[in-house]
Amino acid sequence: MFKLENYPKGFLWGASTSAFQVEGASNKDGKGVSVVDLANHGKEYCDFSIASDFYHNYKEDIKLFSQLGMKSYRFSISWTRIYPQGNGEINQKGIDYYNDLINELVKYKIEPIVTIYHFDLPWALEEQGGWANRKLMLEAFTNYAKTLFENFGDRVKYWLTINEQNILTMVNMIGLFVPGVKKSPQLCYQESHVMTLAQALVIKMYHKDFKNQKGKIGPAPNIAMAYPASAKPEDVLAASNANVMRNWMYTDVCVNGKYNPIALSYFKQANIDIDFQTGDDEILENGKPDFIAFNYYSTFTVKAAEPNFEYQKNNGLDQQTGFDVPGMFVSVKNENLKANEYGWEIDPIGFRTTLRELYSRYLLPVMITENGIGVREELNQNNTVEDDYRIDYYKNHLLEMRKAITDGVEIISYNPWTAIDLVSSHQGFQKRYGFIYVNRDEHDLKDMKRYCKKSFYWYQDVIKNNGNSIK
Ligand code: BG6
Repeated sequence: MFKLENYPKGFLWGASTSAFQVEGASNKDGKGVSVVDLANHGKEYCDFSIASDFYHNYKEDIKLFSQLGMKSYRFSISWTRIYPQGNGEINQKGIDYYNDLINELVKYKIEPIVTIYHFDLPWALEEQGGWANRKLMLEAFTNYAKTLFENFGDRVKYWLTINEQNILTMVNMIGLFVPGVKKSPQLCYQESHVMTLAQALVIKMYHKDFKNQKGKIGPAPNIAMAYPASAKPEDVLAASNANVMRNWMYTDVCVNGKYNPIALSYFKQANIDIDFQTGDDEILENGKPDFIAFNYYSTFTVKAAEPNFEYQKNNGLDQQTGFDVPGMFVSVKNENLKANEYGWEIDPIGFRTTLRELYSRYLLPVMITENGIGVREELNQNNTVEDDYRIDYYKNHLLEMRKAITDGVEIISYNPWTAIDLVSSHQGFQKRYGFIYVNRDEHDLKDMKRYCKKSFYWYQDVIKNNGNSIK
């Protein structure tokens, strides 16, 4: 018999978005240009310029979040609203906007969980080399984070440094982040090292200089357990490699201040020469997180790879459908799992496994900052969406999360992706994730009105019962 534990009192039931995917107003009130503003996803998909127009509707939207019962809201700050050029001159209108937004959340007793950087790097920084320009980026990122702590730290108690550093590193290699722009593994891993240093510096600064704010700070990678395709020892080893390359390479160095040895050995074998400088060890040693936030969509399954370090094409793959590291592992389909219409496998039990592994590895509290299902949807005659598939998806994941709590995993907060429909990072507006429908199409803006989906009322009930209705 397995007796389920209840969720702790004060558990933060929330939902998630990111600035560039929800706000719109991409050139309003002094905002500068970011890399995502320039991303061209082709004619088929909309750009991010209008998105869900949350920028102008945030008061009404937050009111709906409050009706949903949200106890937390995980969102990101647009770097170029605060610093249009990434560094240098501050844009007061950006500060005012986020002050108002945060005050609105406080008014409804919704805990702000703020991502400092969610993919939207200022273009002015990218032009100067972006994350490959170590000096520039260490300075710009710490300066930007400091500005956020100074202006919002009295009300924001949970900070997330970088959203999905691991995915950013991988999709840049595949050429998916900015379509057509494929970076070499050498460049991607070097950029990632600079991000790791920047993150550690920001964590250290927050702990030292903003101690009196009594908040917490952590990373927000996308963590997914790798399964071996078979019990063949070669495949089990491949899964071990995959867990390092996709997960532990990023979290070990963040939590322990030291790189995973298997990752270091891979760099050597693959002739990837990371520019480790004197003093890096000390930076990494002194900037350790208070918790780990992570995004979870699915597990992934791998088999042994041919011993060949030449980088492959990875055509057709994305952040969830797979990723190969030549010589280390090759992604394969898991025949035991169903997938959504975009090929993302659905694995609630894998969610429990991932939570257990992550918690046992570091013994740090965890927070879920994304989890959800993207679907093409339309309003029906009753002005709603009967999204039973989404309810099923969440029901199954929440049951496994409750089992993980019973297993002893310390979880602070759950923030599904997304609170409200927004622009998918790769498939425009047609791939919807929200509890709230936004009445626009890919290219027809219609009236942008908000409608609650069936899952809205279902999640409202879950929150009312502190999750304990799921059994
Ligand atoms: C995560 C990102 O990788 O997955 C989000 O943090 C993204 O920004 C989400 O939207 C879902 O991916 P997609 O491509 O379906 O939008």
